[in-house]
Amino acid sequence: MLAYRLTHPSEGKEASVVLLHAFPFSSFMWLRERKELSEHAAILAPDLPGFGASDRLKKPSITGMAEAVADLLDSLEIEEPVVMGGLSMGGYVALEFYRHFPDRVRGLMLFSTCAAADTAAAKEKRLRAIEEIEKGGVEEFSQKNVNKMVGKTTLETRPDIVEKALTMMLDNQPEGLTDALRAMADRRDNSDLLNFITCPTLIVAGEEDTIIAPAEAESMHKKIRDSRFYRMPKTGHLLNLERPDIFGTMVENFLGTGIHCHSISV
Ligand code: MLT
Repeated sequence: MLAYRLTHPSEGKEASVVLLHAFPFSSFMWLRERKELSEHAAILAPDLPGFGASDRLKKPSITGMAEAVADLLDSLEIEEPVVMGGLSMGGYVALEFYRHFPDRVRGLMLFSTCAAADTAAAKEKRLRAIEEIEKGGVEEFSQKNVNKMVGKTTLETRPDIVEKALTMMLDNQPEGLTDALRAMADRRDNSDLLNFITCPTLIVAGEEDTIIAPAEAESMHKKIRDSRFYRMPKTGHLLNLERPDIFGTMVENFLGTGIHCHSISV
C-alpha cells in the first residue's frame, strides 16, 4: 500500500481531495495545502510508488501508479468519489485514474500538466536522465535540474523557494527516480480522454513554466467541457511552492463552487 499523509477537515466540513505530487518530489510538497485546505476538505496526499515512504512498483508505469492510488482509496474504505488533483507527473496519474475509474472522480485538478505522451525527443531526454542518475546519483541530478523547476521570477527573486525544492528533490532514492522516468517515457497519450471528461475540472499553468508549456494546459481546457483555466503570472512549474497564496485561493474557490464532496472517515 502507498504511504500517505491525511489531514482531516475541521468539524462540520465535508470534502475529500487527493493531491498527487510531481516528479521528483513526494507528498511533502503539499504540506501547506494539507494545512490550509483542511479547513474545507479532508486532504489525502499519497507518496507515489518509489517516492517518499512508498515501495516501488514491480513494473513501473503511470497506469500502475493510478491503480496504486485506487488501491489506497480501497484500503482506506473511501468509496465516495473524490476530487483528484495532480501536479505535472501527478496530473498524468490523475488523468490515468480518471480513464480507469471515472466513477470515483467528482472533480479534477490538473496543475502544470498535459495529456499528451512524450515526443521521441522527450523520451530520449529521459533515457539520458536515467543514465545520469545511475552514474552520478540523486544529488548531481537534483543540482543540475532544480533551477528548471521554477520560473524565471522565482529563480531571480526567491532563492529560498529554490532551496526548498532542492531539499525535497535530494530526499529521493535513485531507483524511485529512474522508475518514474521510465513510467513517464512510456505513458499513453490521454488526449482522446479529454472530450469524455464530464466532471468539473480546474486547470492551472504557470506563465513561466519551461517544463510543460501553458499552451498545453489551455488546449486541455478547450477540450474538457466543464473546465476553468488559469494562467499564473510570474510563476513556473511548481505552482503551489512558488505562489502558495494564489494557488490556495484558486483551489479553495474551485472546491467551494459546484464540487459537492463527501467526508473521508478513516
Ligand atoms: C514533473 O514535474 O512531475 C515532471 O517534470 C514531469 C515531466 O517530466 O514530464
